[in-house]
Amino acid sequence: MFLRAQPLGLLLIAAVMLFPARITSHHESGPWHCDSDAGIRIRSQFRPGVITVDGKVDDWSGVSGSDFALLPALDPDAGKEYNAGRLTLKAVHDGNEAYFMLQIDGNYAYTQGDDTRCASVALMFQIGENATHHRMGGCEEEPTTCTNKTCRGHEVDIVHFSLGTAIPGRLYGGNPVDNKQGYGGDRFGHLIDLYGWNPHCRYLDGLGPSENDTSAQNDWQGSWWHSSLTDHSGFVIEDSPYASGGQKGTYYFEFSRPLRTKDHFQQDAQFTIGRSNKVSAAFWYPEEGKPWHGSAHYSVSCDWILLDFISADSSELTSAPQGSSWDFATTFSLFFSVVALCLSIIVGHRLSTTTRTANFTPMENL
Ligand SMILES: *[C@@H]1O[C@H](CO)[C@@H](O)[C@H](O)[C@H]1NC(C)=O
Ligand SMILES: *[C@@H]1O[C@H](CO)[C@@H](O)[C@H](O)[C@H]1NC(C)=O
Ligand SMILES: *[C@@H]1O[C@H](CO)[C@@H](O)[C@H](O)[C@H]1NC(C)=O
Repeated sequence: MFLRAQPLGLLLIAAVMLFPARITSHHESGPWHCDSDAGIRIRSQFRPGVITVDGKVDDWSGVSGSDFALLPALDPDAGKEYNAGRLTLKAVHDGNEAYFMLQIDGNYAYTQGDDTRCASVALMFQIGENATHHRMGGCEEEPTTCTNKTCRGHEVDIVHFSLGTAIPGRLYGGNPVDNKQGYGGDRFGHLIDLYGWNPHCRYLDGLGPSENDTSAQNDWQGSWWHSSLTDHSGFVIEDSPYASGGQKGTYYFEFSRPLRTKDHFQQDAQFTIGRSNKVSAAFWYPEEGKPWHGSAHYSVSCDWILLDFISADSSELTSAPQGSSWDFATTFSLFFSVVALCLSIIVGHRLSTTTRTANFTPMENL
């Protein structure tokens, strides 16, 4: 009876987590207004050795995520929702790296060399404590007056992946050529590391309005895929556009970044296990074949979404229902694990003593 509580509890948690997150917001002429569902939290669990950053997302199937309606970032009116589907955002970490996955339905569109005729995504994180989601940090200064002093506290961190030159399944982002110059750029795949204070004051990491600091790096890596692509041993640029246009399907974007970076100018958000960050995601798409432009993007929310980096210690326990039956079940499983561990040590010891000679076959025999 006690042990039955465990699967039931897990089912309940799964049901709650899979329930699509609802975002309601509307645009008013006048001051900006945003009603976001403050209850949504993205949970980045400790899941080492699960994710490969290759654009393909089978490895994410055991990770629960959140679904979001995509509304125009500048005019979040429910009537103007991206109509091909929703965006799913998932996150995990392995103790060193943070991993993110974005999945969006959309017909396949790819024009070699033209980012604006391909799909594109960005993640934005709060760095400065006063950085608002609205107006990307919300610093009031003009491009001619914004500096790291006048906009102090309004810093946001952005990773933007544009696909015009990125081969599906290949890795882009930080690379030795661009990192050697100390910039957050990516000349190969346009998976760039930026920071900003408002939509008009945005810079690649390392560049600034008055001076450059060449110690910066592009700390991101990422890859993309579309479900209409055929998985074989690997695409090369000559395969572009990789599949025929207009096919129904889903875009996948995967990113990774170290939890901490060497930034010391408030150009990167820092992630800490056991703490939360504020995040948002955006999507650009060439609707009806028309190229997109910078401000015409969809956003998952009109305000920040909380992103929790869960410690390995609390991964199971925080998601467990409270109560003595759970404690009993936990103690019980712990007891069995200890017994199993002891047994395996005994068996392992026996095996290793009997096969020791076989393991060290002299090289001459090969
Ligand atoms: C954020 O705003 C508050 C209130 O205006 C201010 O006291 C604080 O110093 C600001 N933080 C930073 C990092 O500028
Ligand atoms: C910073 O670097 C960029 C790109 O290399 C360059 O265009 C700009 O002039 C530099 N700014 C300063 C102040 O050196
Ligand atoms: C502003 O950035 C420059 C380099 O880009 C740096 O030397 C300076 O210390 C920074 N100031 C602040 C307040 O962070």
